[in-house]
Amino acid sequence: MNARVASETFAVAIEPSSHEITCRGDQTLLDSCIQNGIPARYNCRSGECGECIASLLSGKVYEMPGADPAIFTDTHRAAGKLLLCMCFPRTDVKLNVSLVQDAPAIRPTAINTMVESVEQVTPTIYKVRVETPGLVEYRAGQCFEWVVPEIKPNRMYSAANRPGDAAIEFHVRVYPGGRIGTFVSEHLSPGQSLKLLGPFGNFGLSTSDWRPSICIAGGTGLAPIHAMLDDAFARGDNRPIHFFYGARSQEELYCLKTLNLWAAKHDSFTFTPVLSDEPEGSGWTGARGLVTDVAAAQLQDAFGLEAYLCGPPAMIDAAVEVLEAAGFSDSDIHADRFVQAR
Ligand SMILES: Cc1cc2nc3c(=O)[nH]c(=O)nc-3n(C[C@H](O)[C@H](O)[C@H](O)COP(=O)(O)OP(=O)(O)OC[C@H]3O[C@@H](n4cnc5c(N)ncnc54)[C@H](O)[C@@H]3O)c2cc1C
Ligand code: FES
Repeated sequence: MNARVASETFAVAIEPSSHEITCRGDQTLLDSCIQNGIPARYNCRSGECGECIASLLSGKVYEMPGADPAIFTDTHRAAGKLLLCMCFPRTDVKLNVSLVQDAPAIRPTAINTMVESVEQVTPTIYKVRVETPGLVEYRAGQCFEWVVPEIKPNRMYSAANRPGDAAIEFHVRVYPGGRIGTFVSEHLSPGQSLKLLGPFGNFGLSTSDWRPSICIAGGTGLAPIHAMLDDAFARGDNRPIHFFYGARSQEELYCLKTLNLWAAKHDSFTFTPVLSDEPEGSGWTGARGLVTDVAAAQLQDAFGLEAYLCGPPAMIDAAVEVLEAAGFSDSDIHADRFVQAR
């Protein structure tokens, strides 16, 4: 990108909400919306979830290569669609953007935190708790970028506790060869500083009505669901929620004590852990198989229900398939895809 275009600023008109903002030539349209407090729909910020699809009504943009061709195709382009997270303005533009109705946008900021604890909770998952300089404004379900100088691009991690505490808890999955995973398991320790940027994302329980919901999570996909439940119970939100939580084996289940406690305390909350690879004869008497299959088998009627899905993209795709077959409409399915940083 040449320096002139990067430093230029363009006007962005957003319909039908009539917002008018500006966007630098080296800034994606999505980042400009986020920085300006426009509650655009988005999730991954890297061209892989399709949540930020909008229409270009006029003007020119540059589309950075790399969008997942399974979610954004030439057919979309030919129809005047674009991904806000992959496009930079080249002239003033007018867009049609779908906004999140019930979520006030919180402008992301940089937060310098200090690591309070690093705890291994399963063979592959660590809980990292950081102290923040004061209360950080975020909504349960949102995530933060971790700014680790030698690891680019920044990775996103969801807050696992509700807002209102001068600390944020994260659940970090360690993949073989994973750079942040290795950093957490081998180098991160209490007292170290950790810079965050955020909050980002608009995953979270709908606030406009308290519809019965099912939540499906796999692995560290538990983190944002844990924050959402923690927040809902603290607010006295007693919508019926059935949470299906998938892990490979008993040793990969974590936060069980809290989840079981919540289930015992709140009649409105049901918790079903599901194990996919637990050895036969291990003594596990709970559900076995794929979490999406177990959830589908227990779903009787989709009418009036909302679904909240969180975890690896493959689990989310499987869950969306079974939910749509059960009668869920697109707008009643909310997903937080833990796509890999690229
Ligand atoms: C909105 C959002 C929220 C997220 N929240 C969380 C969270 O709360 N907790 C959490 O653990 N992660 C979360 N992630 C994923 C996280 O940002 C990292 O991508 C992930 O932790 C891997 O980072 P890494 O640096 O350790 O691995 P990388 O260095 O990025 O990857 C190294 C190798 O690890 C493997 N790998 C990495 N990611 C995956 C994956 N998703 N599935 C399968 N294999 C993989 C691949 O083999 C890859 O080549 C979130 C992602 C998004 C987009
Ligand atoms: S494709 Fe743009 S936010 Fe995911």
